[in-house]
Amino acid sequence: MSLLTVRDLSKRFGGVKALAGVSFGVDEGDVLGIIGPNGAGKTTLLNCVSGLYRPDGGDIRWEAASISGMAPYRIARLGIGRTFQIVRPFPSMTVRENTAMGALFGRPDKRLQPGAALDEADDVLELVGLGEKRHYPVLRLTVPDRKRLEVARALAMRPRLLLLDEVMAGLNGVEVEQALQMVRQVRERGITIVLIEHVMKVIVGICNRALVLNFGRTLVEGPPAEVLKDRRVIEAYLGQRYARDQPPPPDPSPATEGN
Ligand SMILES: Nc1ncnc2c1ncn2[C@@H]1O[C@H](COP(=O)(O)OP(=O)(O)OP(=O)(O)O)[C@@H](O)[C@H]1O
Ligand SMILES: [Mg+2]
Repeated sequence: MSLLTVRDLSKRFGGVKALAGVSFGVDEGDVLGIIGPNGAGKTTLLNCVSGLYRPDGGDIRWEAASISGMAPYRIARLGIGRTFQIVRPFPSMTVRENTAMGALFGRPDKRLQPGAALDEADDVLELVGLGEKRHYPVLRLTVPDRKRLEVARALAMRPRLLLLDEVMAGLNGVEVEQALQMVRQVRERGITIVLIEHVMKVIVGICNRALVLNFGRTLVEGPPAEVLKDRRVIEAYLGQRYARDQPPPPDPSPATEGN
């Protein structure tokens, strides 16, 4: 049985069909990469799995049990952790305290004592490479470090499945390499991973499977190397990215960022 099974999932926002019948499974140990153009429904999919959105149709199963429409805190305690595309730490707290919040409130077992939560925070902060900055106020962190903190907060909840939404967006080449290393270490802890990523190097470098969404539907699914060669994927997705990666015109319009 798959760890996570998504079947015929749909979600509408007014007239927009963000998800229009998406199905896939995630097995224990998988690193599944979800790619697709802006607005394809990737974040909506994670939002449905993590309970932030209630799906309009279809089903989401965690092992044998349906979790579709369950409250986010209950889903988190089942062992599904996530990061957010927009990073939202508690601004008045240190890196360590922010991370400990995940350990205190998201754990499937009984609640930890604050001291144990701080120990847990130290452990996951080492793993994501923030050990030396653990006493920093979060507002002092750079963008890549804030993304690491998001991952640390999710890891502190001891998830079996970790959902990552564009944790490498906006990172430079060296930072992407570091982030890749971090994700590999997470995988080596035996944590199953579903990640949304626009950086193809990440999809090929770490995922054993890739799922391409387009207009709320599955376009292609399979081994990353094959998926990225698929004609439909090149047309729907890579064409858009390649176009965007061209040198900017003399008077570039401001880049837009997704949610
Ligand atoms: N809370 C919301 N209210 C209204 N519309 C929404 C909401 N969330 C998403 N949508 C719409 O659903 C569609 C899918 O959005 P989603 O954020 O899932 O795309 P995405 O694949 O994550 O895109 P990106 O690559 O830009 O992050 C878009 O048309 C978006 O405008
Ligand atoms: Mg998104």
